[in-house]
This record gives sequence, structure tokens and C-alpha cells, in this order.
Amino acid sequence: MPNDTEFVPQSSRTDVLEPALAGLMASPKTLPAMLFYDDEGCRLFYEITRLPEYYLTRTETALLSSLAGSLVPDGFRDAVLVEFGGSDETKARILLDREDSPFTTYVSIDVAGQALTDMRARMASTHPNLTVLPVVADFMQPLSLPLPEGPRMGFFPGSTIGNLDPASATRFLAAARLSLGSGSWFLLGADLRKSPNILLPAYNDSAGVTAAFNLNVLQRLNREAGANFDLSRFRHEAVWNDRESRIEMHLISTRDQVVTLGGQDVSFREGESIHTENSYKHTQDRLVAIAGDAGWEMQHMWQDSAGLFGVILFRAG
Ligand code: AVI
Repeated sequence: MPNDTEFVPQSSRTDVLEPALAGLMASPKTLPAMLFYDDEGCRLFYEITRLPEYYLTRTETALLSSLAGSLVPDGFRDAVLVEFGGSDETKARILLDREDSPFTTYVSIDVAGQALTDMRARMASTHPNLTVLPVVADFMQPLSLPLPEGPRMGFFPGSTIGNLDPASATRFLAAARLSLGSGSWFLLGADLRKSPNILLPAYNDSAGVTAAFNLNVLQRLNREAGANFDLSRFRHEAVWNDRESRIEMHLISTRDQVVTLGGQDVSFREGESIHTENSYKHTQDRLVAIAGDAGWEMQHMWQDSAGLFGVILFRAG
């Protein structure tokens, strides 16, 4: 297989107006979380990962780094690492940069085509012998991936699994299992259920970066869908929903108002919420059950010493 092949099975051009309108006409109002990640949203998310209150990224990175040697199954050689949502290869590098890395191919699946192209250029300069295959696609769908022979390991770090409701998480993991094939492995990184005293500050940071990240969704609708949201008339709120075991992000209307979007008027009452994101915080057992429903069998699990974040290795049963 040639190096640097770009494989584009189902490139998708995101249309923001239709899903946004559907969510805003519903009751209660919602907006799809995929609206977060335009250029400004990606920049703000990167800032979030460096906030003192947002322990997730640094805890996972430290955990993966401390485990790197033991994360890979025994006997792995000429293996393929398949990252889901991997336009930023930082975490994959923890596995790929090791001198004894068994991976000779890195497949990275993401909808962000330009970010994948940039990733490929970076990897080409540091890993000239690694075959890098960017795949521009929605990883929620089963994909026919250009995988060479050899053992395969899926990689889904960053607790992105927590942004999927449990049924969607199982659907994603089942699709990943189909894409990777029987006998494959899967390494999952996920934030764990814990006290709201730790969780709430992570999503209500004192510098207001998460608020800017949340409000940027409205800015994006103004720019890309011709909406006329006045950002000063909405405020960010993150709450802990104990029954669902999730942090919820909301944008709260601070007054009665009418916003126009795609020629459609949308009315808001004072205090009414737009629910923009869920971030589930499962126990490790619950994660194992969710993955089990998708046909993955747990092989090992690790967590940091404070029990904040978990890394679980599965095998396709
Ligand atoms: C990408 N994802 C794992 C983040 C999370 O923690 O759920 C997104 C995020 N939302 C607010 N802050 C970070």
C-alpha cells in the first residue's frame, strides 16, 4: 500500500441550518454538539484542555504516558493503529513515538479534512517509515477501511465516548468493531464518575473559556446560518445530572426574545434553556457493560491514582 494515501469513503459537508432549526423547534430546545467544532471552537477547546480546572486531558496524557509500554498486547508486530476522531495525533504519539512501537500503520478517521492533511504532514516529518492513512469520514458509521494485514487496535481517547448517550456509544463501538474486524483490539480513554465538586468547576471554569466555547455555537449560527443571536442575551450554564450521570451544558436566555434563523422566528422565554452538550461520566463497570453490548470484551483497565480517568483495553469477542 502506498504511503500517504488519502482514502475518502463518505466525506460529509456539514449543513448547520437544518439540524440547528430542528433542535430549536423542539421542546426542550437543543443544538447538536457537532456545532462546537468550527475553527474558533477548536481553538477554544484547545484552551479548555489547558485550564487548571479541566483535569481530563492532562490526567489522561499522564496515564497513557506512564502505561505506554503495557498498553499494547503481547506479541503485537506490524500492527495498525486506527484512531477515531484523530485529526490531532498528540495522544496517538504516546503509542507511536516509542522506540519499541509495534505499529507500522496509523489510520486516522475524522470529518475535518484539512486537520487530517496537516496531521499527515506532521507525521511524515517525524515518522517517515510509518504509513499514515487519513480517512475523511463520520466515524459513527461502519466504514470499509483500507487496512493492511496485521493486528489492529482501535483508539478512542479524550473521553469523547462521554459525549455520546449510552445507546449511541454502543452503536459507535459496534460500528468500530465491524470496521476493525474480528480479533481486533480497542483502547478507550474515558472520564469517570466522581464528585460534582470536581466535575462542575471543569465545565464552569473561572476564566470563562467554557462559556465562550458554548456561546460560540450561537456565533457560528449567526455566521453560517444567517441567524441573529445577540450573545449578550444568553449565558452559559453547566449542571450535574446525577440520575443520568452526566454534565449538561446549556445556554440560558436571559430575557424573553425572538431570534430569526433561516427565515424562521424562534421565541425564547426568560430562563429558557438550549441544551447543547452532554458529557457522561460512567463508572468503569458501566463502560465495560456499554462496550460489552457492542461485542467488546474487557482485557485490562487502568486508572490514575486519584481515580479520575480510566483507560480500558478491549478485544473483539
Ligand atoms: C470533547 N469532550 C470530551 C469534551 C468534554 O469534556 O465532554 C468537550 C467539552 N465540553 C466542555 N468542555 C469540554
